[in-house]
Amino acid sequence: MKLPSQSEVALSEFFDGHPVATFAVNRHHVITHWNKACEQLLGWSSAAMVGTQNHWQPFYHKQRPLLSDLIVDNDDNIADHYPGHSYCSTLIPGAYESEDFFPNIGVSGHWLHFTAAPLRDGAGNVVGAIETLRDVTERRVAENSLRKAHDNLEHIVEKRTAQLADANDRLEDDIRQLTELNDLLSMAQQQLVQAEKMASIGQLAAGVAHEINNPIGYIFSNVGTLEKYLSQLFSMLGAYQEAEASIGQPAVLAQLRAMRQRLDLDFLREDIPALMKESMEGIVRVRHIVEDLKDFSRQDAGQEWSRADLHQGIDSTLNIVGNEVKYRADVVKEYGAIPQIECLPLQINQVVMNLVVNAAQSMGPERGRITVRTGLDSPQTVYLEVEDTGTGIAPDALSRIFDPFFTTKAVGKGTGLGLSLAYGIVQKHGGRIDVDTELGRGTRFRVLLPVRHKEQP
Ligand SMILES: Nc1ncnc2c1ncn2[C@@H]1O[C@H](COP(=O)(O)OP(=O)(O)OP(=O)(O)O)[C@@H](O)[C@H]1O
Ligand SMILES: [Mg+2]
Repeated sequence: MKLPSQSEVALSEFFDGHPVATFAVNRHHVITHWNKACEQLLGWSSAAMVGTQNHWQPFYHKQRPLLSDLIVDNDDNIADHYPGHSYCSTLIPGAYESEDFFPNIGVSGHWLHFTAAPLRDGAGNVVGAIETLRDVTERRVAENSLRKAHDNLEHIVEKRTAQLADANDRLEDDIRQLTELNDLLSMAQQQLVQAEKMASIGQLAAGVAHEINNPIGYIFSNVGTLEKYLSQLFSMLGAYQEAEASIGQPAVLAQLRAMRQRLDLDFLREDIPALMKESMEGIVRVRHIVEDLKDFSRQDAGQEWSRADLHQGIDSTLNIVGNEVKYRADVVKEYGAIPQIECLPLQINQVVMNLVVNAAQSMGPERGRITVRTGLDSPQTVYLEVEDTGTGIAPDALSRIFDPFFTTKAVGKGTGLGLSLAYGIVQKHGGRIDVDTELGRGTRFRVLLPVRHKEQP
């Protein structure tokens, strides 16, 4: 019995029947097997191939070794022949796998995954190699289109991200602009509310000032006259007192003396002039308040608009308030280059005075510093700042400092008209007063005045 021939038949049948394209070469690189699947995949018949060394032909234009040839030659540099995509098989020792694209196969080329393994004799010597080929074109195409879709997706994501970042930037920009607008709006609203309050208080003040003005006028003049009369009466009394000595009737004399002692005439003589002086001072003060009220309510047709040097006005005002300031603070002038401004100069001086006096009065026990600063805020607007190192203004007081009669000062020290007057004057000039303050650090009033006067509506 010759069993080997049976096993040969079985082997070639196994080869042909195997659905994976497979061929084998012997140690001389001659093809010994070329199965049906191989014929179908590569388009070369077994009859044409077996017995030849042409197994390179389906794959390449020029002759070159295939994986099976390299295994037969025991080549150490297999990877050099399939750069980038060959690797040792993990299943069989000495076997290799690789994958590549072959443009010659089929109409538009095929991707093949091929595996080659050595065939050994009983002694373990390599006597040939077997190579299988799997068509992986579909997988490759799918992978490629997946990669393309992925790349595309990444590109879209990148683009979208950039667009989103862009939109975000724009949104942030919009929000910033809106916030700025909102700040402006609430500032304008505050000013409107303040202006409205001032207008109605102004009317009230005008009425009150008008009503008080006349009585105060005649009280003032009457008290003056009364003072004169009283001094005349006192000299007359003196004369009577001197004449007492020459009164002959002791009963009359005793009665006069008793009456003088009862009335304490000496005390009256001292006290009445003091009372009159105090009353006079009180009336002068009331007259000042009425004047201020009239100023505040803009009943000041007397003054003329003219171009004036702000620095000159500040200097002369600082001279006037020198006494009020010099024991409490040093005054630092930081004058900028500014043009003359069209204004009611005396009234602007009044503003400077009120601000500087307030600054001086805000000082604690320690000597402080008052800085008077000028400059251009814009080509058509001049600023005047009065900054102090005083107590600062408490938040709950801040919204009321411009209200007439609002004061935190002791009775008789402040009437609370200084800032409301200043406000009215600056308003009339088409300007603005801003305040910046911090408790314990100090306050800065910033007055903005237009260089040219425009009639206010
Ligand atoms: N520079 C300042 N530092 C701290 N507080 C100030 C300053 N300026 C004004 N104030 C506060 O504002 C209030 C109102 O000021 P305003 O000048 O109107 O009135 P007054 O100074 O109290 O009185 P008047 O000026 O009529 O003598 C003050 O009482 C004070 O509380
Ligand atoms: Mg004041």
